[in-house]
This record gives sequence, structure tokens and C-alpha cells, in this order.
Amino acid sequence: MLFGKIDIARPLCLAPMEDVSDPPFRRLCKDYGADVLYTEFVSCEAAIRNVKSEIAKFDITEYERPIGIQLYGSNPDSMERAAALAEAAGAPDFIDVNCGCWVRKIAGRGDGAGLLRDLNRLRGAVAAVQRGTSLPVTVKTRLGWDDGSIVILELAPMLADMGIQSLTVHCRTRAQGYSGKADWTWLPRIKEAAPSLPLIANGDICTPQDAEICFNLGCDGVMIGRAAMEQPWVFRAMRHYMDYGELLPEPSLDERKEMCIAHLYAHVAFRGTPRGIYSFRRHYGGYLKGAAYVAQLRRDLMTLTDVEDIVERIRAFEDER
Ligand SMILES: Cc1cc2nc3c(=O)[nH]c(=O)nc-3n(C[C@H](O)[C@H](O)[C@H](O)COP(=O)(O)O)c2cc1C
Repeated sequence: MLFGKIDIARPLCLAPMEDVSDPPFRRLCKDYGADVLYTEFVSCEAAIRNVKSEIAKFDITEYERPIGIQLYGSNPDSMERAAALAEAAGAPDFIDVNCGCWVRKIAGRGDGAGLLRDLNRLRGAVAAVQRGTSLPVTVKTRLGWDDGSIVILELAPMLADMGIQSLTVHCRTRAQGYSGKADWTWLPRIKEAAPSLPLIANGDICTPQDAEICFNLGCDGVMIGRAAMEQPWVFRAMRHYMDYGELLPEPSLDERKEMCIAHLYAHVAFRGTPRGIYSFRRHYGGYLKGAAYVAQLRRDLMTLTDVEDIVERIRAFEDER
């Protein structure tokens, strides 16, 4: 399937994740085999007001291609202008429109998943982005607002008619947030409703077998969020399974420690200290998952504030086992 002009068969995509999918994390996932990257979402309103922290999210590198910049908003004028800015500033391969964010401050004011309550507004938002850019436009969404208003089977053909390049569906409703399990049984029905529209499955795809199930359900691509946050090497495992039908052994504790340290250095170099030290704390859990006698190490990692002390503490960990 196409991402901009780049053709990738059965792509493994890294999900857009606010405060996670920053440049060092995207690079790491790409190193581990992610085929397609998305930026964190960018507020159209903030971008057109030239808010520096939002504009900075337009920065991408050649190594990351194909990559999409994700925008959220609902005011057509702002969306059109922000799309033009994203294209001019970042020159991504495509622009993705967020129609799935469930958090109250975004969905509640009609942006993100709030657009699912009014498909005409959603159409207007996507059309505005298409007017603002010459790049292909993609959409990422959920099944609908709640169980009583699932609109995806109506939405998919509408977006196909609008000429979007691909559709990513997180197989939950907005009301579900992250509760329950993503319902992949919708995937073949979406494909049937819009056969020509490339479909990317999202939600609870954590293992190589999960990815295979979604491809077997007729999806053209899969998108991985939280599992990549915990195990950025999951892309390598998925690709190996798809190519050879066998599961790679899990990286050893020593390998995971070194991956963690490399990620920590890149993260702190990008975010600075002490901010990067604090924001990296959410990543330790994934790297240390399954390790024995880890409680004291975890406590130390939540208190240490010097990067070299942290590295030393992580490297010393095996001695305690
Ligand atoms: C920390 C975090 C931040 C997220 N930020 C975004 C975002 O900026 N844009 C977006 O479309 N989805 C965002 N999501 C949703 C994910 O892209 C994805 O749709 C969701 O986590 C389900 O996939 P998963 O089960 O593989 O995690 C975020 C999710 C998490 C956990």
C-alpha cells in the first residue's frame, strides 16, 4: 500500500502517540523495523498561532520516511492553514487527520473522536486538510462515538470517495476509551464496505500472532502503539514471524538493558535534563518486564536524576540477581 509515493507491502506502522512518538523514539522503532511512522498529534489551532512546541513537531528527517504528520482540530479554516504549514515546514510523505482522540478536552469540544458525532463536520475537516496540502491525506479514527452510534461502515466509503490514501481504525468506540478489548471483527466488515480503501488495523496488536490475525482479516497494514512503547523491538519480531513463520527469542535482560540505555541517552539528548530524565521514567517498565527482583531498581530509577548514575544503576542490576 502507498504512503505518499512509497509502496510498502504489509506495513508495520508505529502509532502516533502524544509525548511518546518523538524523533528519538521514532528513530528507535524504525531501527527495529517499523515501516511507517507518524508524528505526535499537532493542534491546528496552536500551529497557526505559531506555538513553538507545536511547530517543533513538524520536524522530521529523511531517515524517517515514509512519515505522516498528524493534525487534529475541526475548524476548516484552521485545518486548511495548518495543513499548508505542515507541508511547508516538514515535507512529510502524507498528512494524517486525527478523528479518534478520545480525551475529554479534545473530543468534548468536537475535535478528534468528537468528529464522529457529526460526519458532515468530519467531512469538512478532512476536505479542508486536502485543500491545504498537495500531499496525500489519511485518516485515523475509532468505530464510532459509542456502541449505539457506530458509524465506521458509513464513514469508510465516504472517506474512500473523498480520495484519502488510507484509513486506520482503532477498533474501539470513543466511549470505551481503552476499556474492554479492541473488536477486530469489524475489520473485514470495514474492508467490505470500502474495498478499495487501504485499511490499517489498530488496537491491542501486541504480538506477531496478533498482527498475523489482522492481516488474515483482510487488513493492508497494522499499527502498533502501546506494545511498541513497552517493547520497541516488537516490529522486528513481527516482521520475522511474517517472513519466516517463527518467533524470535525475546531479547535477553542484558540486551534489554543496553537498548534501554541507548534509548535513555537519545531521549535525554532530545528533551534535555531534567525534563528528559522524568519523561523517560514511563519507559523503564517495558525494558525491565519479566526481570526478577526488580522492585528496588524500579524505585531507584524513579528517584535518580543524573543520567550517568541511572546508567550505572541499570548496568549494575545483573549483579543483584
Ligand atoms: C500515550 C499515548 C498517546 C497517544 N497519542 C495519540 C495521538 O497523538 N494521536 C492519535 O491518533 N492517537 C494517539 N494515541 C492512540 C494510539 O495511537 C492508538 O490508537 C491506541 O493506543 C491503540 O493502539 P494500541 O492498542 O496499539 O496502543 C495515543 C495513545 C497513547 C497510549
